[in-house]
Amino acid sequence: MLRAADQGLMTASRAGRSVIVVGIQWGDEGKGKIVDLLTERVGAVVRFQGGHNAGHTLIIGGEKTVLHLIPSGILRPDVACVIGNGVVLHLPSLLQEIDRLESRGVQVTGRLRISAACPLILPTHIELDRARESAGGARAIGTTGRGIGPAYEDKAARRSLRISDLFDPARLAERLAAAAALHNFVLEHYHKVAPVDAGAMLEELQRLGERVKPLAADTALFLDEQRRAGANLLFEGAQGAMLDVDHGTYPYVTSSNTTAGFAATGSGLGIGAFDYVLGIVKAYSTRVGAGPFPTELFDDTGRHLAEVGVEFGSTTGRPRRCGWFDAVAARRAVLHNGVTGLCVTKLDVLDGLDRLKICVGYRLRGQVVDSTPVFVDQYADCEPVYEELPGWHASTVGITALEALPANARRYLERIEEVLGVPVDMISTGADRAQNIIVRHPFD
Ligand code: IMP
Repeated sequence: MLRAADQGLMTASRAGRSVIVVGIQWGDEGKGKIVDLLTERVGAVVRFQGGHNAGHTLIIGGEKTVLHLIPSGILRPDVACVIGNGVVLHLPSLLQEIDRLESRGVQVTGRLRISAACPLILPTHIELDRARESAGGARAIGTTGRGIGPAYEDKAARRSLRISDLFDPARLAERLAAAAALHNFVLEHYHKVAPVDAGAMLEELQRLGERVKPLAADTALFLDEQRRAGANLLFEGAQGAMLDVDHGTYPYVTSSNTTAGFAATGSGLGIGAFDYVLGIVKAYSTRVGAGPFPTELFDDTGRHLAEVGVEFGSTTGRPRRCGWFDAVAARRAVLHNGVTGLCVTKLDVLDGLDRLKICVGYRLRGQVVDSTPVFVDQYADCEPVYEELPGWHASTVGITALEALPANARRYLERIEEVLGVPVDMISTGADRAQNIIVRHPFD
């Protein structure tokens, strides 16, 4: 007979591996493609924060799919998809995404599980987000206008309606009436804009709720069971570390924790369940919306990055601001995420540039520093201190072996490794699922 402790150890040794994929810049690092690639080896993919402000673009066999809420594993038929409790959920967007996928023959029902604890994004949250942004003038955050901030505020204020409320019609009506009364008061009397019809909101929630209820599940328990049974799990971060509500360039951030630690809280698994953090980093930098961005370029190189990198938001279509690789910000993000290995994406966008620059320090009030400012409001005054490296002219598009990269491309990657202090385990050399160099697979 095994003692309980031995049984526990045996269970642990059979458990699957859990990998967290996070963006370590300002989002849009190309996480969706990498998550899709890694899902070949997993039993379940989990979204744990954010909402439909995210936009993950996948290109498979030349066909493009943009996902906002549903985890990027959905295109692999055997993979279970989970939306964890840390995600704020807009039901119309979720159902639209499900319908769009199912009309293309991708089965979603039966494979997608949603935490009963997910807070809902209401139409009033979206109106509040937009009213605030238009009143914000120069201080506007440049949000995606999806109601993300107001929905997370209500979560913290214990005012949210959750998926579980859809199962209790009286409770749903009561909680919605209370939230709507407050939201509409602020819309009408503070922002001086039209209120939202509370009756219509309730009718929509009841109607859409009927479709969503069968997807509600105890997702933490499901993930724990999967892991114990030996399935690998992948946790798909949205946005990026510099947009984290605690560790990012506050207040120019999103309203969730985008860093790896939240994979635990936002899915319900304990921190001991995780094995590896893959930090996705673009070979240069981009940012959408307002806020400090020391390496931003306004010249021909900036235009090259925007055009060749097709830098337009996949959720809002807004042009992204582009600049050189910021190793100071990325090093900070490595710290906050406990990154195990890096995946450098969009390396091919740098093809053809004569000289490349990496920001290795900031000049702040006459002094050169090599870490981000302690007082985040000083970020706007930071000027980049660059190191220059030679570029390369050969195309790197679609290269799948490290040795096949131009020597200067390898040198650029080695320098990123050195300055960030973590190995480059993967490199993406094009938009397609097959265009990658895998040095060390996160699931090995
Ligand atoms: P919110 O998340 O809509 O509240 O927007 C807050 C900030 O996060 C804005 O600067 C947005 O542009 C940015 N943001 C939100 N989601 C994404 C994303 O998926 N990629 C890049 N930036 C994002």
